[in-house]
Amino acid sequence: MSSVSHDTLPLARPVLGAREEELVLEVLRSGQLSLGPRLAEFEQAFAARVDAPFASAVSSGTAGLHLALRAVGVSDGDEVITSPFSFVASANVAVYERARPVFADIDPVTLNLSVDAAAAAVTSRTTALLPVHIFGYPCDIAGFEALGLPIVEDACEALGAVHVDGVPVGGRGHPAVFGFYANKQLTTGEGGMVTLSSQAMKERIDSERNQGRAPDMDWLDHDRLGYNYRLSDIACALGLAQLERLDSLLEGRARVASLYGSVLGAIEGLSLPCPESGGNRRGWFVYVVQLPRGVDRDSVVRALGSRGIPSKPYFPAVHLMSYYREQFGHRDGEFPVCEDVAARSIALPFFPEMAEGQVEMVASALADVLEPDRRTSG
Ligand SMILES: Cc1ncc(COP(=O)(O)O)c(C=O)c1O
Repeated sequence: MSSVSHDTLPLARPVLGAREEELVLEVLRSGQLSLGPRLAEFEQAFAARVDAPFASAVSSGTAGLHLALRAVGVSDGDEVITSPFSFVASANVAVYERARPVFADIDPVTLNLSVDAAAAAVTSRTTALLPVHIFGYPCDIAGFEALGLPIVEDACEALGAVHVDGVPVGGRGHPAVFGFYANKQLTTGEGGMVTLSSQAMKERIDSERNQGRAPDMDWLDHDRLGYNYRLSDIACALGLAQLERLDSLLEGRARVASLYGSVLGAIEGLSLPCPESGGNRRGWFVYVVQLPRGVDRDSVVRALGSRGIPSKPYFPAVHLMSYYREQFGHRDGEFPVCEDVAARSIALPFFPEMAEGQVEMVASALADVLEPDRRTSG
């Protein structure tokens, strides 16, 4: 079958092979499926990869963000400043602690939380900043650091990204949280990792992910409130195998992004992901474009779908989701940059092994689909 078959093009596809099978089978044969040796091994290898002193593996990126917010002291009635242009989890985790997620608008180029907008949103109740490295592009972390508040980095989409000063995302010293869902740069099916520079924070997170049990305590001893946010040894084995091939996974994504950049550049009015600037390096996660203004996005998604090309509006603005409107009184127009970008963005098929022909097929379909639409919209 041709690798450019219309029937088989997915939006995302993990790369899994013999090494994943080997390491997972080893765990299955060992009989120790959780809290075994693969956990610490995966944590240490991951921490080394992003130049962080410590890492704690957790059951999801969301779980990691939740525990990281608790670790920096967020609690009842606090405010956490974050981006409205993100996956909903980065705001939800503040709500888990009965804190208020306070949104601030995004930078129109990087699509990351704007430092100036965040600074303007700080109040006496602000306990933490939760910037997101959206679509794997490093946020202006030095700018956030200058605001002098605890930071939790949502790096769920940013494995492989590097800050302007050459420090890998995750190695800056703040708790930074990575996600390993199936569409991520590295996947364990479900899973996450918190990278840390504080041993005390690691001990707290390790205890809270395990029902509040300290390492020296017995099976049913618990001295604080905890959760079951553990990552199994099966998942850690998968993660170790993925980590071994991470360079090639990242290179594959960067190659596909570069192909997209060269073929989509010709489509008038289409905004592509911002180029890397000033030494910032993106850890490519998705390929999201913003359609020209005036184009009916739903009809573009449908027309691409009818040609066998999946695409998705990505991301909707979090503050305009019904839960956030109802709970916090948000309304249209509050964050105009985010709302404009959110209304025009679609994610195109994107995965490390995507063939050049597949990228060209997506680009030519998008060009075709946009032409009549733009004629009818004037
Ligand atoms: C920006 C961002 N934050 C948080 C998460 C949550 O991660 P998970 O799905 O592993 O809980 C994701 C995952 O998609 C994400 O993209």
